[in-house]
Amino acid sequence: EHKDMPKETGLIENFRLLREGYEYIMNRSDKFGTPVFETNLLGETGICLIGKEAAEIFYDNDRFKRENAAPKLAQKTLFGEGGVQGLDGEHHLNRKAMFMSLMSKESLNEVQAIFAEKWERYSKSWETEVEIVLYDEVKKMLTETAFEWTGVSLRDDELEEWTDELSDMFEGAANISWKHWQARRSRSKAEEWLEALVEKVRAQEIHLDEQRALYQFSFHTNPTGELLDPSIVAVELLNLLRPIVAISVYVDFTSLAVYQYPEEAAKVKKGKEEQQRFIQEVRRFYPFFPFAAARVKQDFEWNGYIFEKDTLTLLDLYGTNHHPEVWEQPEIFAPDRFLSWSGSPFDFIPQGGGEYDIGHRCAGEWMTLDLLRVAVDYLVNHLSYTIPKQDLSYSLNDIPSLPESKMKLADVKRI
Ligand code: HEM
Repeated sequence: EHKDMPKETGLIENFRLLREGYEYIMNRSDKFGTPVFETNLLGETGICLIGKEAAEIFYDNDRFKRENAAPKLAQKTLFGEGGVQGLDGEHHLNRKAMFMSLMSKESLNEVQAIFAEKWERYSKSWETEVEIVLYDEVKKMLTETAFEWTGVSLRDDELEEWTDELSDMFEGAANISWKHWQARRSRSKAEEWLEALVEKVRAQEIHLDEQRALYQFSFHTNPTGELLDPSIVAVELLNLLRPIVAISVYVDFTSLAVYQYPEEAAKVKKGKEEQQRFIQEVRRFYPFFPFAAARVKQDFEWNGYIFEKDTLTLLDLYGTNHHPEVWEQPEIFAPDRFLSWSGSPFDFIPQGGGEYDIGHRCAGEWMTLDLLRVAVDYLVNHLSYTIPKQDLSYSLNDIPSLPESKMKLADVKRI
């Protein structure tokens, strides 16, 4: 027995999706009373999904594929073309392994140490300032961290420009105004520069540690044993550099949470497990990456609904993290909820769900957690500061969202 999928019709839905932002899918799923509905997605008929069970089918490689799933606009800015996000099957396995091989315990410890050194150095200079904008500072700290960790050299006088270019790529990703063009320009420039660098590494004009991502990616071979095109290596290097800098968004929300939930923040003084629950709740509670996109691989039926081959499908990441079926009082910031979380790979999916190696779940999730633990430890245990009057609100309509004032801290002292 087949059922008709509830439908939102009309081209206006394209604009509503962008205008309503993070709550678009939740709002309609509530209205229809189903975890699935059909709508107009950027000019074509598509399906929206929300919730744990929907996430399980979305991450089933027999049902969904990634080929041609990312909107062209996002490829020109956020993802780049030809990268791991759009690969399927054997090609995806091969490319994803290239990323996951960088995520050893040793390598993750190293990146934490690099980031901690930035907190030490930058916080000394904050002591001489009346006020700092945390977001702007952390973006620079993470840019330095990302370059050091990947083995790409960065001169002091290039720091600001690279920080801005890498930020443009995620700040302008879902924007259809001038910010989109700025993001495109920044991506082209960065890709060109990295491509040239890869050529030099291959020609052995640059010598670097073989463990570094720059070296590993430059000499990685595809399933037929060939080196990747330098333009693809550049895209994949940006798939490390850009999201590492984007962790600044979570650091900013972490500092907002520390300010707004002082009782919860006080628990962070106790130790690592408390820190972990706090940053997990930051990733659940605040909006960041709104949806993941895929296409139906072959016709199938789920809960009586027909999914037709090639249909564009969005999985609501933010909405799934706020779904009342799994999360009690989802609108409350409560890190201790993670004491009893089952650990399912499908109900808490701020960085995608499913598996790392065979699926598209974020390659940098462990690193994100490791670096956020460093950040919350500094904010709570190693710095004192005041929060001057500022606009602490954040929008659920702007993608990506951020506290309006980007978190100003005053009278910063190291303790
Ligand atoms: C994929 C979120 C940080 C590298 C993804 C996906 C999401 C995501 C939602 C797609 C999941 C899907 O398509 O099903 C985030 C967020 C981050 C973050 C919110 C916080 C800043 C990082 C970091 C790195 C990274 C630090 C690298 C060091 C990747 C890569 C993919 C990916 C390579 C593609 C994986 C694939 O297609 O198989 N991320 N990410 N991300 N992320 Fe992240």
